[in-house]
Amino acid sequence: MIVETLFLGAVALLWKLIPKTRRWTPEEQSLPLFEHHVFVCHNSRPEGAPRPSCTSNGISDLHTRLQQLVKAAGLGSTVRINKSGCLDQCEHGPTVVVYPEAVWYGNVRPEDAEIIVAEHLVGGRPVERLRVAEECLNTKSCPHRG
Ligand code: FES
Ligand SMILES: [Zn+2]
Repeated sequence: MIVETLFLGAVALLWKLIPKTRRWTPEEQSLPLFEHHVFVCHNSRPEGAPRPSCTSNGISDLHTRLQQLVKAAGLGSTVRINKSGCLDQCEHGPTVVVYPEAVWYGNVRPEDAEIIVAEHLVGGRPVERLRVAEECLNTKSCPHRG
């Protein structure tokens, strides 16, 4: 009985000492990592709300178009197009942000999806004409916010 108790105690101690980090399977290790995460604001506010919103009904043709074009460009496994809630750039919307570069795009229309995919996600060059001005980011007041 004492031997069993000691044995179980030793096993419990060893279990605690084993690092709890998850091991990746060979299949998981061979998966490509996402190189870009693109967040597309889907927030919708009622009419008359104090701030504008990026969609009127929570549906974004821009998001759909970005997904289609990313897939067509063969980037489906390295670029993730995400729906997001409010990104706090409402007055500059519809808003898109691309990570890891943290490039913010504003007033983005579905027809702009093509140039974002071709220039930024494929070519690696942010689309300057769509960028939210630097002085509008990380501030509570700018000419657009009043
Ligand atoms: S509603 Fe889109 S950024 Fe706020
Ligand atoms: Zn602004």
